[in-house]
Amino acid sequence: MAIQKTEKIWYNGKLIPWDDATIHVMSHVIHYGSSVFEGIRCYDPPAGPAIFRAQEHIQRLLDSAKVYRMDVPFNRDELVKAMLETVGHNGVWPCYVRPIIFRGYGDAGVSALTNPIEIYIVNYPWGKYLGHESDACDVCISSWTRLAPNTLPAMAKAGANYMNSQLIKMEALANGYVEGIALDVNGFVSEGSGENLFVVHRDRLITAPLGNSVLPGITRDSILQIARDMNIPIVEQMIPREMLYIADEAFFTGTAAEVTPIRTVDKIKVGKGMVGPITKALQKEFYAIVRGEKTDRYGWLTPVPVRAKQPVTV
Ligand SMILES: Cc1ncc(COP(=O)(O)O)c(C=O)c1O
Repeated sequence: MAIQKTEKIWYNGKLIPWDDATIHVMSHVIHYGSSVFEGIRCYDPPAGPAIFRAQEHIQRLLDSAKVYRMDVPFNRDELVKAMLETVGHNGVWPCYVRPIIFRGYGDAGVSALTNPIEIYIVNYPWGKYLGHESDACDVCISSWTRLAPNTLPAMAKAGANYMNSQLIKMEALANGYVEGIALDVNGFVSEGSGENLFVVHRDRLITAPLGNSVLPGITRDSILQIARDMNIPIVEQMIPREMLYIADEAFFTGTAAEVTPIRTVDKIKVGKGMVGPITKALQKEFYAIVRGEKTDRYGWLTPVPVRAKQPVTV
């Protein structure tokens, strides 16, 4: 989906015009992938625009920066405030929010410790990623392995990780699938190119633990909280590939995918090849909260101070 520009972008502490948010071709990040970032949704419930799990996303951003020895001169509350200011100023929602921190222009070498740390927060209108929530998608197991431990840290959401994601996604699309699921270096199920994965098997909700090279997804955590409250038995365990073929249900979670059911894996039907009852129940609860149809009992939505309301249809 093409990016629709908004008015301002937050850069190192102030709002600047969208077109001025440019960097030099010799910036470290362009050559060595030295960025960490977040992808966050701002929903449009009847009470007014609200950012989903703003604090948790910014905390993960700061955690990612810490892993890569990036000193960020703003704390979590300051960055949450900056995000609210950006979205409020641009007056565009529902939208996607993309905070990004990277190493800028300075030294030419790989060792990046002297290069300036640049921080931007961008927002723009955004809709569905993998399909409509009542659709289920057809996916494959990727021939590409997810990042192995001690190669690139999977818990950090770093730009460089997405070279691996691109290989997984492009291969899946080239072969006629919507998404690819990568196995970890030991052959256990890891995650999609940009989503965490859940399986329902004999009434238990199963997802891979963080040790299987998965990003600690904020949506994954939200679904685990909802499932716990619904008394659905949860197991975080290593998932053998064949579990996907014999599962009763399977679905992806992610900021982009939200909760997206999986219909087939490698052309083998998951369960009856339809959205299953546990997936449906979790989806229903998740969307009811983010759309403001149910009380935000977990405190997941941070209201955006509104300057002028200009809802955008996406
Ligand atoms: C590789 C990967 N795994 C999982 C996720 C899901 O994480 P979240 O729910 O925080 O968006 C994403 C999306 O950001 C991702 O890129």
